[in-house]
Amino acid sequence: HQEKNRILIGVSQCSDDEWRTQMNKEIAREALFYPGVTVEIRSAHDDNQKQIADIEYFMDEGADLIVVAPNEAEAIAPVIEKAYDRGIPVVLVDRKIDSDHYTAYIGADNYDMGHQIGTYIANRLHGKGNIVELTGLKGSTPARDRHRGLIDALADEPGIRIVATADAGWFQQSAERAFDSILARQPLIDLVFAHNDRMASGAHEAAVREGRADEMLFVGVDALSGKGLGVNLVTDSILDATFIYPTGGDRVVQVAMNILEGRDYPRETLLSTALVNRQNARIMQMQTAHISTLDEKIERLNSQLDAFLLRYSAQRMFLYACIVI
Ligand code: FRU
Repeated sequence: HQEKNRILIGVSQCSDDEWRTQMNKEIAREALFYPGVTVEIRSAHDDNQKQIADIEYFMDEGADLIVVAPNEAEAIAPVIEKAYDRGIPVVLVDRKIDSDHYTAYIGADNYDMGHQIGTYIANRLHGKGNIVELTGLKGSTPARDRHRGLIDALADEPGIRIVATADAGWFQQSAERAFDSILARQPLIDLVFAHNDRMASGAHEAAVREGRADEMLFVGVDALSGKGLGVNLVTDSILDATFIYPTGGDRVVQVAMNILEGRDYPRETLLSTALVNRQNARIMQMQTAHISTLDEKIERLNSQLDAFLLRYSAQRMFLYACIVI
């Protein structure tokens, strides 16, 4: 990052999947509105050591601000503190650390989400039933907070029993395996709550294999649109419901720019969730289809603008050459 007057924003993602692809797209698109800003995105592929190296790399490159979704709270905290203590603003997204050495946080309140989901489950089962919880990676704050929220919401529901909990690390295949062995042990399961849609879908596949999918409901989190993703899983009656986990990449860039340009910014930007079930999933699909055509138009306009600017600067060069000659 040699050039003066250029701003470099480093983005360190913990993982690589549709949810993060959507957030990364939003970040890149929003950054187009800030000339002179370069965004570099790196993925740690769920590896703490790789993420530490990525953040070190951004420090070495002289990044002006670092955005981090910490894979695991404890492991990633020291390198975040190091960057922050050096005076580099750090914006946490989606996942947090147990330290206040960061500049701002943008994402949902995962405790509140877990609580809302617990309340939904209790109502859906009319206050009575056996549930299985498949958690995300235990060391990551969304898994920890969604779990705590769920437990607190169910504390007033004596008729609801959590008969099994397993850590499936946010992955579909781990969820499939974990749920396979839970199915073998539990004859009565009314509902499976997985901390994301991918794991819910893995659990569903295990239940289908055992011929037990119709005995229970599946609830997930994320509610992404697209083939095989959360909202479609609801319209296909594979999931009973899912809860929106907003990606908010555009907000991330806005907050980052407010920090960099010395404007006011909130320390916590909380993005809200909403229930997606068979009543509203169709509407969601229609709305997102519309939004993605608008997104494509923005991208088309941007590349036209680039082409015009290129032509304009070539003409200026030509004119300048004529005058000099
Ligand atoms: C994507 C993801 C989501 C989940 C979030 C939690 O990488 O696994 O499915 O909601 O991370 O941080």
